[in-house]
Amino acid sequence: MCGIVGYVGAKPVVKILLDGLSKLEYRGYDSAGLAVNSDGKIKIFKAEGKLQNLKDIMEKNPVSNTTMGIGHIRWATHGAPTTVNAHPHSCNCGKLVVVHNGIIENFKELREELEGYGCVFKTETDTETVAHLIAHEYGKLNSLPKAVRAAVKQLKGAYALCVMHQDEPNVLVGTRKNAPLIVALGEGENYLASDCPAIIEYTKRVIYLDDDEVAVLTPDTVLITDIDGKQVVKKEEILPWEPVAISKMGYKHFMLKEIHEQPDVIRNALAGKLHDVNSPVKLDEVKLTAEQIKNLKRIEIIACGTSLHAAMIAKYIIEAFCNIPVDVEASSEYIYRKTVTDKNTLVIGISQSGETSDTITAIRQAKAVGSHVLIITNRPDSIMAREADSLIPVNAGIEVSVAATKSFNAQLIALYLFAIYIAEIKDSFDKIHIKNLKQEMLELPAKVEIILSHKENIMKCAKTFSSFRNFIYIARGINYAAALEGALKLKEISYINATGYPAGELKHGPIAMLDETMPVLAILMPGVVYDKVLSNAEESKARNARLIALTSSEDKELENLFEYILKVPTVDEYLSPVLTSVPLQLLAYYIAEFLGKDVDQPRNLAKSVTVE
Ligand code: AGP
Repeated sequence: MCGIVGYVGAKPVVKILLDGLSKLEYRGYDSAGLAVNSDGKIKIFKAEGKLQNLKDIMEKNPVSNTTMGIGHIRWATHGAPTTVNAHPHSCNCGKLVVVHNGIIENFKELREELEGYGCVFKTETDTETVAHLIAHEYGKLNSLPKAVRAAVKQLKGAYALCVMHQDEPNVLVGTRKNAPLIVALGEGENYLASDCPAIIEYTKRVIYLDDDEVAVLTPDTVLITDIDGKQVVKKEEILPWEPVAISKMGYKHFMLKEIHEQPDVIRNALAGKLHDVNSPVKLDEVKLTAEQIKNLKRIEIIACGTSLHAAMIAKYIIEAFCNIPVDVEASSEYIYRKTVTDKNTLVIGISQSGETSDTITAIRQAKAVGSHVLIITNRPDSIMAREADSLIPVNAGIEVSVAATKSFNAQLIALYLFAIYIAEIKDSFDKIHIKNLKQEMLELPAKVEIILSHKENIMKCAKTFSSFRNFIYIARGINYAAALEGALKLKEISYINATGYPAGELKHGPIAMLDETMPVLAILMPGVVYDKVLSNAEESKARNARLIALTSSEDKELENLFEYILKVPTVDEYLSPVLTSVPLQLLAYYIAEFLGKDVDQPRNLAKSVTVE
């Protein structure tokens, strides 16, 4: 996934482009570039590595009289992250430049055709093909909007494009298919961007482009057409966030800030949905009728990464509260096998970004067979949210750090609310227990605050174990997915090989790995599986593994077995993943921080994977 930004207006373009790209770094950060129309000529600047390298180049090469430009920050898909392969890409004469987010699936065939016309390619990228193709059409049509429309009709795959031509100063063209692109409206200036953080400090007035729409921007006008040039009337929307939402607010990393936002995030996720313990859960954007809910025979939950772990937890609670069988599957697996989804299946897509390509493909397949699709997302402005039959926005605020933290717990709250919502309609779960769960959910923010105000032990534990190259996390029941999520957090920001296992599976193979170099973290929450996990931890100790416990238990005996005991407040076992996730987020953070890793932008990762 990449980030693109474009500007046309009267302000100094380079600063706007660089600031915009810095707000999109979470989308990819292995190289960056920009192009400006300066003194009537297109000038291109690129740098591999972090955005700072491009900023340094611009410092040394000031440009003047610029009124428009385009910028790009890259997560390489085709072609290594080198300066040559960095965007923008241009045609042979250098007059037409383009930046692109997505993948052009038929770029090889197009490249051969264009080489036949005499185009000379300089890079391995699919995007360069787009630049030559638009330039080829421009040579026939002598109009940038027409050339872009003619060119994209020949493209297959996913793209958000921002294009400009030297001979059409003050005309910026943007278009999209299966990749996000927004138009932002200013006074005497207009913007294109992959996502709102790039422009929110200048304007909150936005238009969300839909697939196959083309935006033509000048400093004073915005015209949106369909791919055939017919004008399309679009609604202007106002962004619901403040610019401060994308600042670190004094924290060293966005990840630490977002971990600490979780008490408020949980309050926001409950707001408007759970008023008090005596009122039914309100989910206004869930469009299933009571009849449909009572007749639900099966639920499929589709997601990736951290969202998949939330889905696994949802399985436990929906089956327990609602007596409906739930299948959970990684989106990338779901889309490539025959499924039994049908019109009697409710399909739930969980996605923080709402832009994950695998999950978009999966829910479109489900819709195609008549399934009702419910989307649970942090971005109600996303493609998935717009295509959903039902929606539960999790309202966690912009999550900038690549590692998902606050959005995970916000997803869990949404899933608990959904399960209770269904159970209340079906009358399928003990009413007293539901009432107690509601009360405990309202108390969760305060319990998370307790964890956040006792981080010293977690920091000490992180320091002790930051030098280990491997880690095993074990749990049973509803916290097995919490163990997987904790292991993913550690993997993705510290690059330590952490693996989550069902505790009962240790003796079926993984126990062979145990010795003093393999720490084992056990999630030991009081409930039906406590004693079993405790005995699994004892088995690990007998193989000289160093042990860490994550528990609410006050059992002093644990101190004889575990080197560290990470404490959380007591909570209903069903709700325990909301609490157990927080120390695991902090443990991963502090280990990565001790190791000097790039916590917010881990290598090879991107915040939302908008390519399959
Ligand atoms: C989680 O920390 C990762 N950043 C990644 O696994 C992420 O959860 C996954 O790519 C799914 O993203 P989504 O929730 O936006 O669909």
